[in-house]
This record gives sequence, C-alpha cells and structure tokens, in this order.
Amino acid sequence: MQTWDVVIIGAGAAGLMCAAQAGYRGRRVLLLDNAKQAGRKILISGGGRCNFTNTHAQPDAYICHNSHFVKSALSRFSAHDFIELVERHGLNYHEKTLGQLFCDESAKDLLEILMTELSWSGANLQLRTEVLKVIRTDTGFLIQTSAGELQCLSLVVATGGLSMPKLGATPLGLQLAEQFGLHVYPTRAGLVPFTLHAEDKVRFAQISGVSVACEVHSLSGMRFRESLLFTHRGLSGPAILQISSFWQAGEPVWINLLPDVKAGDWLQTLSRDRPRVSLRKLLSEKLPKRFVDIWLETDIADTAIGQLPLKRREQLAEQLNHWELKPNGTEGYRTAEVTLGGVDTDELSSKTMECKNIPGLYFIGEVVDVTGWLGGYNFQWAWSSGWAAGQVV
Ligand code: FDA
Repeated sequence: MQTWDVVIIGAGAAGLMCAAQAGYRGRRVLLLDNAKQAGRKILISGGGRCNFTNTHAQPDAYICHNSHFVKSALSRFSAHDFIELVERHGLNYHEKTLGQLFCDESAKDLLEILMTELSWSGANLQLRTEVLKVIRTDTGFLIQTSAGELQCLSLVVATGGLSMPKLGATPLGLQLAEQFGLHVYPTRAGLVPFTLHAEDKVRFAQISGVSVACEVHSLSGMRFRESLLFTHRGLSGPAILQISSFWQAGEPVWINLLPDVKAGDWLQTLSRDRPRVSLRKLLSEKLPKRFVDIWLETDIADTAIGQLPLKRREQLAEQLNHWELKPNGTEGYRTAEVTLGGVDTDELSSKTMECKNIPGLYFIGEVVDVTGWLGGYNFQWAWSSGWAAGQVV
C-alpha cells in the first residue's frame, strides 16, 4: 500500500496551492482528482482569462456564518502575495475594473504557473482517480480509491463546490465532512443568473443581450452598482450575479435604473422645461432605447411628459429608482459560479484549516462555508486557504 505524508483530494485552485506549499516543505504529497485534467474551473473562469484575484480582497467581501474566519488566511497569504507569485513567473495581466485582475492572454498561462510550482515542489499528481471510501486510522487516514489503497498522515479535502457538475463537481467533500460528524451548512447556488416568471420572461426575452447600468439591492440590504443583462432565460450580468448570493427564494429585488438621478426631480424639471417631449424619447436619453421600448408601459410611452398626470409621474419616478422585480428562481448549479454554505468554519482552525476535533483532517477552498463576491475573491480564498493548510500538513 502506498503511504504518503499528505493526500489532497481535489486538484483545483485550493488543492494545487496546498500541494505545492506542502511539497516545498519536503512533505511527500499526493494530489488526487477524479477529472482527467487539473484546474478545469481555472481554465473556464473569467471568460477564459481567469479573474485570479482582487486587489481589494478584504474579509467584508466574503459571505460566511463567521465573518471573522477568513481574516487570518487572507492576511497571511494576500492578493499581493499571489500577484508576487504570478509576477515571478512573468504572467502578463491587467486590472479590468474594481480591482479585478485577469490574465492578458489566457487562463492556461495561470494554470501553467500552478503546474510548474507543483512540479518544482516535488508533489505528485494523480488524475482520473475516484475516492471510494475514507477511514480514520490510529496514525492518519486510509483512502480506498479506484486505483488502490493509500495511507496518509494528513488528509486535505479540496473538492470545491457543487456548481458545474459537468466539470467534475461532486458532493464528496460535504459527504466526508458529514461522515466525520462535522456540521455542514445547507448549500445553494450563488453568483447565478435569475430566471423570471412566465410573463416577465416573455416580455424581457425580446431584449436579450441588452445591458443596463444600475444599482440592485436585496431584502438583506446588500446593494451592488454594476450592469444588468437581459438574457433569453432571465436576468444576468454582474449586478444580478452579485445580488443572487444575498437573495432567498420568494423575495423580490429592487433595481435603481438611474442611480445618479432623483427621478422625481428629474421628471419634474423635464415636465417644466420640455413638456412636449414623449416619455419614450426622454427615458431613452438615459437608458438603452430597446429597454425603454419594452419596460415603459405602452399607454404612456408616447405621452408628452407635460400631459402626464402627477400621480402617474410619481409612479414612474418610483419605478425608475425602485423597480421591484420578483425572480422565479435561479439557474441553479448548472451555471452558478459558486456554492454558498458548506463546512461550518466553527469546526476548523482559521489559521490552518485543520478540523478542531479531528487532527490531520483539513478542508480548504470552496467546500468550506466561505463564498466571495464576484470579481476574483473566490480564487483568492482558494489560494489563501490552500496556502494556510500547506504550511502545516
Ligand atoms: P475547484 O472547483 O477549483 O476544484 C475542485 C477539484 O476537486 C476539481 O478539480 C474536481 O475535479 C475535484 N473533485 C471534485 N469531486 C471530486 C471527487 N469526488 N474525487 C476527486 N476529485 C474531486 N472565481 C474567481 O475568483 N474568479 C473567476 O473569474 C471565476 N470564474 C468562474 C467561472 C465559472 C464558470 C465558475 C463555475 C466558477 C468561477 N469562479 C471564479 C469560482 C472559482 O472557480 C471557484 O471558487 C474555485 O475554483 C474554488 O476552488 P477549489 O479548489 O475550492 O475548487
């Protein structure tokens, strides 16, 4: 039977980082994955250019039942530490917006860096391997796999979230947590497009591809100022993906279509200064025309603003600054970027990611109840938590 110091299940972002760190410390490391390639989510992320970190990766950009948990790992291996690593390998990258760093060319360049680090560290990678059973022993863990039995002192679970099952996502990590008696928070899809009720779906499918700069907020009070994209299935775009992580089924969301404008004052000024101009024309000066054509109620679209009764003008102003929309649901794990919930952080050391009650067992990356905002925060959590465990396994 093969014996290792460290076995890591999951050769994604967190597992690759952890394996290299442990390998550099002279540990004998085996990194296992059921897929035929390591880091598949890295390759498809950020539209193929991987938004690999965010220069503003602070604890308040993470959703976790214990908001203090992420602080230690994020400060010990920060966005700047990861940037330093990729710069050492000569990666060309750029900031797109809001601190989001992307590869200039391709996410392949980033994966290549991680694979180079893995090989320099001496850690071993074994793909296409199913984990069948994990048993705790006196000295560590026994792992039965489709390629035979393994023994190890430290076992790291880095199996990621449930999103995109097509890319190899499985619930193994959550099942192992439950097997070892750890509390797991219920999971749901995050950073995911909304679907709409039938009537709204038909209405807005006509403007699929149209994007509107806006501010969206949820009942939780979270708000994001980004763009919203109409699709043939519902709503997407950064504003919607962000708010989806704070939305609960059955709740509405509110969209401020003119976040820089007090719509009531604006419409009042227009009705005084340009009373003969139609609402359709006036709104199209601030919003995409195709959107206005669909969104504005047909009975007033061609009304001159000076003719609009005061009550309707006030209603319209409310709609412009506070449009309430009730999603039907989300597209679920099929298209979600992340999984909310997961292994309760109270079970883990925030410094090492080791289970408090099961020495030698570690959980890192997305399988843990830590979910970042859109914009490179999720990879940063994978790097930081993987690095933290890599120092001690
Ligand atoms: P990750 O999912 O990377 O790796 C888990 C690994 O475990 C996989 O290799 C999988 O095959 C393996 N595994 C699963 N079950 C197993 C089993 N039973 N046996 C063996 N191996 C198993 N984030 C970000 O910060 N910037 C971005 O640009 C994007 N973009 C993006 C796009 C899309 C389409 C998605 C789906 C996700 C993103 N993300 C993102 C999120 C980001 O990809 C995610 O948070 C990290 O990859 C999480 O890293 P982990 O290592 O925890 O899991």
